[in-house]
Amino acid sequence: MKRITKAILPVAGFGTRVLPATKAVPKEMLTIVDRPALQYVVDEAVEAGIEHFIFVTARGKGSIEDYFDSAYELEDTLQRKGKTEIYDSLKAKQPLEGTMSFIRQQQAKGLGHAVWCARDIIGDDPFAVLLPDVLIQSKTSCLAQMVEAYHEVGGNIIAVDEVPEDRVSSYGVIKPKAGEDFKSKRIVAMDGMVEKPAVNEAPSNLKITGRYILQPELMGLLKDQAAGAGGEIQLTDAMARLMTTQDFHAFAYEGQDYDCGSKLGYFEAVMAYARRHPEIGKDVCNMISQSASQG
Ligand code: G1P
Repeated sequence: MKRITKAILPVAGFGTRVLPATKAVPKEMLTIVDRPALQYVVDEAVEAGIEHFIFVTARGKGSIEDYFDSAYELEDTLQRKGKTEIYDSLKAKQPLEGTMSFIRQQQAKGLGHAVWCARDIIGDDPFAVLLPDVLIQSKTSCLAQMVEAYHEVGGNIIAVDEVPEDRVSSYGVIKPKAGEDFKSKRIVAMDGMVEKPAVNEAPSNLKITGRYILQPELMGLLKDQAAGAGGEIQLTDAMARLMTTQDFHAFAYEGQDYDCGSKLGYFEAVMAYARRHPEIGKDVCNMISQSASQG
């Protein structure tokens, strides 16, 4: 079984649900406490053993590339001023040269199309997809948990979580195989999936969270995938086709997900990460309880 060392991070979206914040700043670069949201997703992937990152970007997203580059003037100034601790913390997060690729999605044709844009770098290797809108706070990184599951069952693995039934139409929704029970198992064989179903047509209340381990044969299907929900080329539709020839398992991860592409989800993420921050977490918790008691 080939190791999962490559990850695709689609970062081409406009971030329309958090405008005007995202008019001039990519949504992936919005700050969660003291770093861009995207840094948490990269950290999650590094913990899972990812060695090469493929960002599928678009016009106006240049700050993402700059963020992961070295910043000579800044680093030199920090060193000359003896700010060694800050310098070291910046360098510790800087990826090794040659481990990040940036590809432009030239037209906003949907998530499936964005993933397909990375096909040449993926080649014949299995790969992960992480949707950076979604942050997952957990003891062990969500993708690392999925890689462990992958070593057990192989094939394709999709992270899922329960969602209130009236919200299924906002997500991809999976259909577990008959007899499979999420209450007793964390890895469950799948029978189907559908993108943004009507509430009365959803096959379950298990939403696709935004973390995937996929086999390279998916790229061939994405090539001619017809537009689906919302008039976009959907990753879910191509995965549903691949399911006729390959195994798919849904994986119930340990952790809490936050949808940073929405105003409320973003605020929840800021609160959650601030409370657990090693430096300011304690003070943040005190501040929150004080302001709650003030009403
Ligand atoms: C995408 C996927 C969907 C998934 C969701 C998770 O939808 O197409 O299957 O459930 O991310 O956030 P989007 O939110 O981009 O519309």
